[in-house]
Amino acid sequence: MTDVQFTPRVFSGIKPSGGLTLGNYLGAIKRWVAMQDEATENIYCAVDMHAVTVWQDPAALRQGTREIAAGLLAAGIDPGRSILFNQSRVHQHAELAWVFNCVARVGWMTRMTQFKDKAGANSEKASLGLYAYPSLMAADILLYHGTHVPVGEDQKQHVELTRDIAAKFNHDYGVDFFPLTQPVIEGPGTRVMNLRDGSKKMSKSGDSDMERINMLDDADTIAKKFKKAKTDPAPLPETVDGLTDRAEAKNLVDIYAGLTDQTAEAVIADYAGAGWGTFKPALADLAVSKLAPVSDEMKRLLNDPAEIDRTLEQGADKARDIAAPILDRTYEIVGFLSS
Ligand code: TYM
Repeated sequence: MTDVQFTPRVFSGIKPSGGLTLGNYLGAIKRWVAMQDEATENIYCAVDMHAVTVWQDPAALRQGTREIAAGLLAAGIDPGRSILFNQSRVHQHAELAWVFNCVARVGWMTRMTQFKDKAGANSEKASLGLYAYPSLMAADILLYHGTHVPVGEDQKQHVELTRDIAAKFNHDYGVDFFPLTQPVIEGPGTRVMNLRDGSKKMSKSGDSDMERINMLDDADTIAKKFKKAKTDPAPLPETVDGLTDRAEAKNLVDIYAGLTDQTAEAVIADYAGAGWGTFKPALADLAVSKLAPVSDEMKRLLNDPAEIDRTLEQGADKARDIAAPILDRTYEIVGFLSS
């Protein structure tokens, strides 16, 4: 039985826990902006309910949510063409997540590498929300019948789990109601690594600020962070194959490629044999030239929080128009009596 035609619809989200990083920008936001020119409906969300799976100071959460919104607007998300809102304003996310908590299996959650990374050795003390997080993420996407989810590499497993939840729901209830969502993980910036340790991803919650570039860093800070970025002593190789087993070198080449919309091959063709004394300042200049306009605009937008809040509220109204009938139909399929 087919309930719906699945028209292409993009959904993606960012957690407002700490500021935006270059990883968020290259792995997700840049792609989101570009997808506005493709023939899809686009829905982008500051996922504040995900943020509270670990402790958040309430004032910092409010500020972080506005900062995500400002970052997305500054990078080119156009609220006239995309829906932009914060998750908690649309209560249907939590309601669908509950249904999915009853569809997903405990074993599926236990296999999620991000839970293992975040909860660490102390998983008994982690919040129940952190454990159930991927089920809420599946609800975020499927509440809109999202067909495409542009994310960085680290979210691939969660999008695959979203497919498993959709398939099990459809199978258990004998419907074809939820689409099998595709992750969209493309380009050289899908896994930006920590500047001090190329085996770890760049993250907003890492221990040292020197390991990441924040979207609000000023030019001097960006230059200093790239200058101090860990590398090996060898110059850049003649071909990309020469970057194998050189995680830090590969990361800086990938960042350069992501910022210029080039392949790593093209960057190596330009810089083959160059030393770090040449490449690092070029990378820092490039990063400043690409990020400064975005961060300047972000700061301008953040001066008017009421305007950001209005934009998010209007986005939530549009999101609810799509979400409500999908949740209503889900409740009907499940057998909940409703008016
Ligand atoms: P979050 O907030 O950790 O990251 C937001 C987006 O940025 C990407 N990203 C990176 N990409 C490349 N290199 C990096 N170092 C890097 N760090 C972050 C992430 O892959 C992501 O695309 N669970 C999600 C938020 C979420 C979501 C959703 C995403 C909640 N519901 C529904 C898509 C669809 C998260 O924690 O992302």
